[in-house]
Amino acid sequence: MKPKVHTAVHTAVRTERDGDVLVIIIDNPPINAGSLEVRRGLLQAIDMLQTTPGLQAGVLIGSGNTFMAGSDLREFGKPLGPPELPTVIAAIEACSRPVVAALHGAALGGGFELALGCDARVAMLGTVVGLPEVGLGIIPGAGGTQRVPRRVGVARAIQMICSGERIPSGKALELRLIDAAVDTDVRGAAIAHARSLAGRKCRIRDEEVPEDNPAAIESAVQSALRAGKHRPAVVAAVEAIRASLQLPIDDALADERVVFQQLRQSAEAFALRHQFFAEREAMKLTQAVMTAPRPVQSVAIIGAGTMGSGIAISALDAGLDVILLEQDEAALRRGRERIGEHYGSRVASGKLKVSAAQDNESRLTPSTDWAHLRRADLVIEAVFEDMAVKQSVFAKIDAHARPGAVMATNTSYLDVDAIARITSRPQDVLGLHFFSPAHVMKLLEVVRGAETAADVVATGMELAKRLHKQPVVTGNAFGFIGNRIYNAYRKQCEFMLEDGAWPEQVDAALQAFGMAMGPFAVADLSGLDIAWRMRQAQAATRNPNERYVAILDHLCEQGRLGRKTGTGYYTYPDGKRSAATDETVRGIIEQASVDRGIERRLLNNAEIQRRALLAMVNEAARLLAEGVAGRATDIDVVMVQGYGFPRWEGGPVFWARQQGLAALQAAMDELAHANGGDFVRGDLAVLMA
Ligand code: NAI
Repeated sequence: MKPKVHTAVHTAVRTERDGDVLVIIIDNPPINAGSLEVRRGLLQAIDMLQTTPGLQAGVLIGSGNTFMAGSDLREFGKPLGPPELPTVIAAIEACSRPVVAALHGAALGGGFELALGCDARVAMLGTVVGLPEVGLGIIPGAGGTQRVPRRVGVARAIQMICSGERIPSGKALELRLIDAAVDTDVRGAAIAHARSLAGRKCRIRDEEVPEDNPAAIESAVQSALRAGKHRPAVVAAVEAIRASLQLPIDDALADERVVFQQLRQSAEAFALRHQFFAEREAMKLTQAVMTAPRPVQSVAIIGAGTMGSGIAISALDAGLDVILLEQDEAALRRGRERIGEHYGSRVASGKLKVSAAQDNESRLTPSTDWAHLRRADLVIEAVFEDMAVKQSVFAKIDAHARPGAVMATNTSYLDVDAIARITSRPQDVLGLHFFSPAHVMKLLEVVRGAETAADVVATGMELAKRLHKQPVVTGNAFGFIGNRIYNAYRKQCEFMLEDGAWPEQVDAALQAFGMAMGPFAVADLSGLDIAWRMRQAQAATRNPNERYVAILDHLCEQGRLGRKTGTGYYTYPDGKRSAATDETVRGIIEQASVDRGIERRLLNNAEIQRRALLAMVNEAARLLAEGVAGRATDIDVVMVQGYGFPRWEGGPVFWARQQGLAALQAAMDELAHANGGDFVRGDLAVLMA
């Protein structure tokens, strides 16, 4: 073997010679994102491969711990400088010497398209590949929609690209998205593979699209469009992939690029990029809490109800040891069974191996003996939402937990400081507000109390990362960020009932905007009695000038507690929600209008959507001014990740910014007028970027 010759090609791309193979190394830390520098460097390296005598093949690899894990998203809002990625891929395909991609870590988006433009792909086991572009409001723009179907067929390509599926190496090999997988030395394996090609080109572009059953294609199209309604990128991706069957590849590639260029400047793509950056920002520790977290391996969860068992599953899945404590054996058994059923069904559906489920469950210690608390590094309380109960539980935690253990409450609304003060160590207490179902929902509000230590907040953030959650730090205020905004939104929707709308109209208008569910359907699902109890608890302290809508109270008085009683805002014949509210509910609503002296009028979709959004925006401005939210964009993360706000609308703050301050102020004047009562205006200027 000849000694390696190191040649600097470009700052972001290096080349090394391994005998007759040119190893092209993308070196753009941290994820080797495909920037302009990288593309220029690659083009030069391919030219070197083509023109240097004695070379037989090239290998394309990423430095550090990944291949190219995506494109540089900051470039996406601006004109892309030449060369663009399709030019680089075209150069690889036009090069008479084969190029093998050596994949490790992740090959996503433009990175995977680059790999698909090579003559073969050799991957380290554990590599993930995929085309997540649709999640950013665009379509793959460098051949992904044409080369993927040539390997997996149109139906599977639609499924993969429209969902942004990340495919692990084993599955990718089965699907022929990669050509070989190795468990060590991917560079060496790719070099050997490159030599074995003996100068032969094997371009995916020259392959036929395999024949698919038309019914399978149609079913993939229908399910992608169903999941992607409201989403222009999904529709465009379906069309682009289908074109692989109809058009010569160069025409289809040209069309794909045009659509990609249009979409990257679309409102949807801007909103999705905003949300992407907002999520990343929310994960960062602010200066005030920039410190090392406390180590956590053992978590105690108190209360094995809906939330406690979900949190336990999430912690077990993350490899933590879980102690599950309950007040009595029967409740403990129910919680234990819930967890067991969860793992049972994941195994039955093939989503989890039996051995993995057994491993997870073996790390669970269910008990009613509080002495176990001593072993916990972190305690999460998830008992009833009642201050007295929570305080008595925290007094017990204080008595049993070891010094330095972090103590968290999963309260939805209660004052974290009042809970912390009951203990001898309020600096160790914080709120960790999970969302239901806790093993599914990504959002985690990390609530910083007045005395919470910086490293305790850092521990909450680190835990979120380990549980694969999206953390957002919030201050300690009624409902934190999410429930406070949601309350303002729901109240506004109740005003609209009094003003003339029916629940199904409000729900339909907000679903048309893109909310996952309408507020009244959500209320029925969660049970109206929770809100009813809270309203009763707040009755004595409520501002008498506040516009108070009593419809929900009247529904509860009639035993209409929501889905669980078969009636709420809607009726549920055979368990399914009827499309409309029934006469009883209409009667209650009409009476509420009469009581307030309102002549009912028709509200159209645009007004319903505007008022609901403005209510959220106003509350967002107030939360930011009060310091409950640290960053305006954190509010968008909370609403998208926890409350079904459409991701492709970017969140309420992004929406507000699109309106512009003057228009927003004018609309808010109107809302204040429509509200009547005591409407507290936020300073909207704080929301503007
Ligand atoms: P749940 O009623 O399903 O479970 C509460 C569990 O706590 C019960 O199993 C009960 O036996 C146990 N418990 C009560 N007192 C106890 C004590 N002294 N010692 C040990 N265990 C005790 O309630 P859920 O829905 O799980 O709510 C728990 C907490 O999570 C509440 O603070 C709630 O506000 C909050 N939360 C609930 C969400 C939801 O959607 N259900 C969402 C986010 C937070």
